[in-house]
Amino acid sequence: MYKKIHLDTPNIGALEKRYLNNAVDAGFVSTVGPFVTEFEESFAKYLGVKKSVSTQSGTAAMHIALHELGISQGDEVIVPVLTFVATVNPIIYVGAKPIFVDVDRRTWNIEPREIEKSITEKTKAIIPVHLYGNPCDMNEIMRIARKHNLYVIEDATESLGAKYHDKHTGTFGDLGCFSFNGNKVITTGGGGMVVGDNKARLGHIKFLVNQAKHALKEGHHPEIGFNYRMTNIEAALGLAQMNRLSDFLRRKKRFRSIYREELKNVEGIGFQEEYEGAESPWWLNCIYLKKAIDINIVQTGLKELGIPARRVFMPLIELPPYKRYGKGDFYNARNIYEKSLCLPSSTVNSEEDIKFVCRHIKKLLKSEL
Ligand SMILES: Cc1ncc(COP(=O)(O)O)c(C=O)c1O
Repeated sequence: MYKKIHLDTPNIGALEKRYLNNAVDAGFVSTVGPFVTEFEESFAKYLGVKKSVSTQSGTAAMHIALHELGISQGDEVIVPVLTFVATVNPIIYVGAKPIFVDVDRRTWNIEPREIEKSITEKTKAIIPVHLYGNPCDMNEIMRIARKHNLYVIEDATESLGAKYHDKHTGTFGDLGCFSFNGNKVITTGGGGMVVGDNKARLGHIKFLVNQAKHALKEGHHPEIGFNYRMTNIEAALGLAQMNRLSDFLRRKKRFRSIYREELKNVEGIGFQEEYEGAESPWWLNCIYLKKAIDINIVQTGLKELGIPARRVFMPLIELPPYKRYGKGDFYNARNIYEKSLCLPSSTVNSEEDIKFVCRHIKKLLKSEL
């Protein structure tokens, strides 16, 4: 075998080790310590938002965001059907109902026209997901949200570094949520962030994630809170990763160019496309196979060569907990699922690794078509 190729392995180096050692040496391994605040401030500054609150995961960030906006029993929340299950589970946690809509054939993101068709008097919020890093059509989504007085919670968990008309994803809606799971653009091992410009709202989230602990009165908890705090150790990792983010994004951009360049003339291959004005960090590069070919054969063929490739998310209405919510045929989501693969995109890969992947995709397709 050539060498190990990485789909989404985290890139951890000397800086991370140094910051982690600082945290351990200071004895601040849990929620006390300076790194949490430093990480939150660095994150807010990078995005250009007023405040960021760190959490234990992207899922926790989504949950606390829905809770903070008062979404609850009887409310409807519009979500794309093509996403990771963690976008939608928090809607169930707060007792609301997910309303699934299909995605755009080209960008794989929630289709604004479908959003508008799905609005009822019970609709309270829209959750656009910037799938695999690719920014949604935020101008149109925000226009619809304002027209119908709906909240927007951006699932920006996969899209750190993405911009839409020069503005970062996660900063358009009422609240934006990020994930620092091990496979994301940056990692804290596991963690998340809620961001926004409404300081009072974010301040309340900061209070809620800390068991709703009163700042002055000891032992006093005026509301039901959550233990969703990030630890100092996780934030140490996060701050080091933030310092390396521009380098990660540069490498990802280069990988994206190699994939597009090497595979552009290959018959039968298409890519997830961007909206005008969108700039994806290409958290994962994905291809779409236009020909009638079994995607599992391509995936297995690549795996045998040591190249990890992952199927795109299964449309959520196929999963047992969400089957009963499935109204409509969701043609685009099903079609993308049947024909697409996510390719090695980790920044621990070299440019040669990505070229190696391209060469083998070409060979495989030639023999299978
Ligand atoms: C689209 C999407 N939403 C939500 C999440 C949840 O993030 P986490 O794994 O940090 O809980 C993830 C990542 O896992 C994701 O890919």
